[in-house]
Amino acid sequence: SSQRLTYSTEAAVGQAVGDLIVEIIGRKPAAVLGLATGATMEPVYANLVAAFKRGDVSFAGVTSFNLDEYVGIPTSHPRSYRSTMNALFFDHVDIDKNRTFLPEASVDKPDEAGERYERMIAKAGGIDLQLLGIGRNGHIGFNEPGSAKDSRTRLVELHEDTLRANARFFSDRPVPSSAITMGIGTILSAKQIVLTATGVAKADAVRRATSGGFQADCPASALQEHDKVSWFFDRAAAGL
Ligand code: GLP
Repeated sequence: SSQRLTYSTEAAVGQAVGDLIVEIIGRKPAAVLGLATGATMEPVYANLVAAFKRGDVSFAGVTSFNLDEYVGIPTSHPRSYRSTMNALFFDHVDIDKNRTFLPEASVDKPDEAGERYERMIAKAGGIDLQLLGIGRNGHIGFNEPGSAKDSRTRLVELHEDTLRANARFFSDRPVPSSAITMGIGTILSAKQIVLTATGVAKADAVRRATSGGFQADCPASALQEHDKVSWFFDRAAAGL
């Protein structure tokens, strides 16, 4: 069953999503987590690190697959999603880094990396819980408007709006304009999904994502067809 939860602050959302993940790992220590980047996720990871430090959770049995990774910057770049995940989460908990995966975007043939990633997810037994943020244009992962509902992990070009939104993270060079992302179909294959949105800039995307069925111009609206989605909002994001 799906549920919509609205909290008064962004901090409360991060706490609630963190608590849910801790509870899931408590039930299944070898859970396979689908992870996401983006500013919205930072309080979630901060809460998970705090829970680990309190001894409330261990990630030692967890396997993780991130949604996406930029193409065109080395994995070692501080703004690669690998570096971001290490800095926000992996470096501070007991997860085995050999079981933390992101799409291999810095290889010679990124167009072939997608199928490899899909096979790895399948071999791990599929994703138990997929964490998602949402772009201002309704994207999930880097599935921009127009992405097919049955799309799988693949090389994609990013939209202008996404480049503008993410430019703030890159001071030394332009934002990479392509990425490898799980597809909408990949995301819908997860057993459970948690979408988190905070702030007024997401209100319109949230409105379109949660009502009216699937519309190709709002990839997140595909989640309405999944039977176990938890939507976590703050008041500003839920405002419309
Ligand atoms: C990025 C990521 C998405 C993320 C979205 C929102 O482009 N690829 O996975 O959900 O933007 O990011 P933020 O939380 O910073 O608003």
